[in-house]
Amino acid sequence: MRHALAPTAPFLPLSPALEPTGSRSGSGSAAPYQIRASPTLFSHFVAGVTPHTTQAQFLEDRSPVKVAACGRRWGKSTAAALDVLHLAVVGDAEGAPTEQMIVAPTADQATIIGDEVERLLRNGPLSPLVRSITHAPFFEVALTTGSVIRARSAANEGKYLRGRGAHRVVVDEAAFVSERTIQEAILPLLADTNGQLVLISTPFGRNTFWEYFMRGQGGDPTCRSYQFPSHQNPHISQAYIEAQRVTMTGAQFRAEWLAEFLDDQATVFAWALIERATQGTVAEPAPAHRYMIGWDPAKYRDRSAVIVLDGTSQPLRVVATRRLEGRDYSSQIAAIAALAGQYNGASVMMDCTGNAALLEQLRATGVWCDGFTFTNATKQQLIDNLVMSLERDLLTFPPEQDLITELRYYEYTLSASGAVKLGAPDRSGAFDDMVTALALSLWVPEQATPQLVTWDDVWTPEQEQEFERDRVHIGGRRGW
Ligand SMILES: Nc1ncnc2c1ncn2[C@@H]1O[C@H](COP(=O)(O)OP(=O)(O)OP(=O)(O)O)[C@@H](O)[C@H]1O
Ligand SMILES: [Mg+2]
Repeated sequence: MRHALAPTAPFLPLSPALEPTGSRSGSGSAAPYQIRASPTLFSHFVAGVTPHTTQAQFLEDRSPVKVAACGRRWGKSTAAALDVLHLAVVGDAEGAPTEQMIVAPTADQATIIGDEVERLLRNGPLSPLVRSITHAPFFEVALTTGSVIRARSAANEGKYLRGRGAHRVVVDEAAFVSERTIQEAILPLLADTNGQLVLISTPFGRNTFWEYFMRGQGGDPTCRSYQFPSHQNPHISQAYIEAQRVTMTGAQFRAEWLAEFLDDQATVFAWALIERATQGTVAEPAPAHRYMIGWDPAKYRDRSAVIVLDGTSQPLRVVATRRLEGRDYSSQIAAIAALAGQYNGASVMMDCTGNAALLEQLRATGVWCDGFTFTNATKQQLIDNLVMSLERDLLTFPPEQDLITELRYYEYTLSASGAVKLGAPDRSGAFDDMVTALALSLWVPEQATPQLVTWDDVWTPEQEQEFERDRVHIGGRRGW
């Protein structure tokens, strides 16, 4: 079986549509052949984007498994889009059309690279090659060359990926895609074509993405990996990157801007627990379901976090996450009351530390709600309850990046007096309000939201027997 991307791709002639501007056909120039063989030259001369130095290094690598741990804003989306576009236009080692799949934890993230591909295709000399671009139900580009580019979400353990082969799969934010999805849904896509696996992500602890990264650092000729900190992108100002430093924890900055892999030491929620619980998708209210809401109102910041939990059966499922912008209490109250109404009269547990009036205001809307008062000890209890729920597989949540990132960086810190402090460290941009909202939603007492009663609940087998026994006496005489 041939490999889609032979390291020594033969230099095939370009179609006239791909001739670089200013090149003359018949001139005998080697340029078209080199452009075809090099994604970097292709990007510069044909797509009109000049890859920066480390993007070029990434693009020129044809290893069967290619891994890039990148800092934010390094240029992942741009580089991945150029890579995908090159293979779609020039075809495989023999020039035959290719099929590529872009995968990301959520559909929205998958379309980011898709959108970049579309932008490059529509606004440049490649536009005559577009046969069709579809956005719904899934993103798909078909070129006149016969090549196809698809973008899909990895949600639900890769259920939307199955059944299609691909010459290349590009997994964006690969550190947030579970090992199981990679093994059972993504690798099989490449089996028949012997295709290339490209994993790109900001690092996120020592998980499966890290294992691939480590493999690529060793002598394995089939796997190469790169670490690209954000400052390697010359189009992003150093001042901007430095400004990020004060908005987050040291660990978060090292992971997200310096592209370093960190271990789990100071974190409260082990990555394995987060990964195991990441399942399912957000969901609209369903009839007869019982919902609980956790709300961390905005006090010092301009946004507050809300989690809606479906408590109908176990495991409990997060079905919605919301951010409410602004600090205006009356509009926050109105939004929470509306959400509770929408989710079958959900019960609300909110942080009311130092603000009992807010709890009363919410009660006045008719919503069942209770307040949680935070002290070091009660916070520990609340968070321990969340940890235990995860350890016992009693809770799942969809791959919502905000929530997962907050869980990942939620820390224990020891104060000078030896007291344990929990949460995102006190920096202006380090958030932990989603985690608090999640923990609060789990704290709603079970009796607060009785499950809506169904016929099966009322009509028990005992009643059925009783009915059979008494029917004749009651109804018989009346001819029922
Ligand atoms: N080769 C390039 N030439 C010009 N600008 C570039 C290039 N690569 C990236 N950029 C610019 O740098 C910025 C970041 O690029 P991009 O969005 O691709 O990065 P990213 O790593 O995907 O970022 P994020 O972390 O936000 O997902 C964008 O403004 C993009 O236009
Ligand atoms: Mg991006």
